[in-house]
Amino acid sequence: MPGSLEGRKAIVTGASSGIGEATVEALVREGAVVSAGARRRDRLEALAERVGTEAVHAHAVDVTDEAAARSFVEDSAAEMDGLDVLINNAGVMLLGPVTGADVEHWQRMINVNLLGLLYCTHAALPVMGEGGGGHIVNVSSVAGRTANMGSAVYNMTKFGVVAFSEALRQEVLDANIRVTCVEPGFVATELQGHNEHPMVVQMIDKMREDLGDGVLQASDIADAIVYTLSRPPHVAINEVLVRPTKQRR
Ligand SMILES: NC(=O)c1ccc[n+]([C@@H]2O[C@H](COP(=O)([O-])OP(=O)(O)OC[C@H]3O[C@@H](n4cnc5c(N)ncnc54)[C@H](OP(=O)(O)O)[C@@H]3O)[C@@H](O)[C@H]2O)c1
Repeated sequence: MPGSLEGRKAIVTGASSGIGEATVEALVREGAVVSAGARRRDRLEALAERVGTEAVHAHAVDVTDEAAARSFVEDSAAEMDGLDVLINNAGVMLLGPVTGADVEHWQRMINVNLLGLLYCTHAALPVMGEGGGGHIVNVSSVAGRTANMGSAVYNMTKFGVVAFSEALRQEVLDANIRVTCVEPGFVATELQGHNEHPMVVQMIDKMREDLGDGVLQASDIADAIVYTLSRPPHVAINEVLVRPTKQRR
């Protein structure tokens, strides 16, 4: 039986771990061909080997480099002979109070979470337009819906993704391009592990402990993404907020 995304041509950024990796697996399971991008080439190649090199093309790319992001999107579309789906998933989360923060952390979050997403989108829109339409999925966060102390700049980037997604939706609907913003709660991935601030590490550890087995898995978010992509053409799921059942905020 054909999968729900049979023949779809998709790009996934941040595909070397976590939600991006699980999304590549889910898309291929549903019949899509995927161009998987991130900086860690070895992880992408291992993913392609595991899932099938005919369905997954591995591309080492730093999405904060505008020219590299553009080439990634354009080369992927050429390689797959079209582009139906762009999943802007690459992201970093470096939390801590604003006072005394390392501004390099702010720059990394803004460069990856905002500019990387913008560069890939900018490159994908004309390709999708020429192909008669497409679907862009932007991975924001519950942190794009509620702000909390210690998360100000991450909140800023993820609120930005939500706002950008809605404005973009209005601009591209006449080109048959759907836009979806996915907002995960706490998912067990590498994301939290990049934090060093003792207060943040303690807060994350406590939250993780409280959720126990109830924490979201990357595959839960991949399932939600597949759901949005597999609706009939007249249905646009514009926003999906997925929390662990026991996550309060
Ligand atoms: N985990 C959660 O609780 C959670 C909750 C809400 C939202 N999110 C969002 O979900 C998305 C995926 O995160 P995750 O949880 O799956 O974390 P993750 O396992 O750390 O994955 C992040 C991905 O982004 C890639 N990346 C980072 N910087 C990049 C760059 N400059 N260029 C290209 N790729 C880059 C990483 O690959 P390389 O290091 O190989 O480049 C990695 O594949 C992020 O946007 C995150 O904000 C996660």
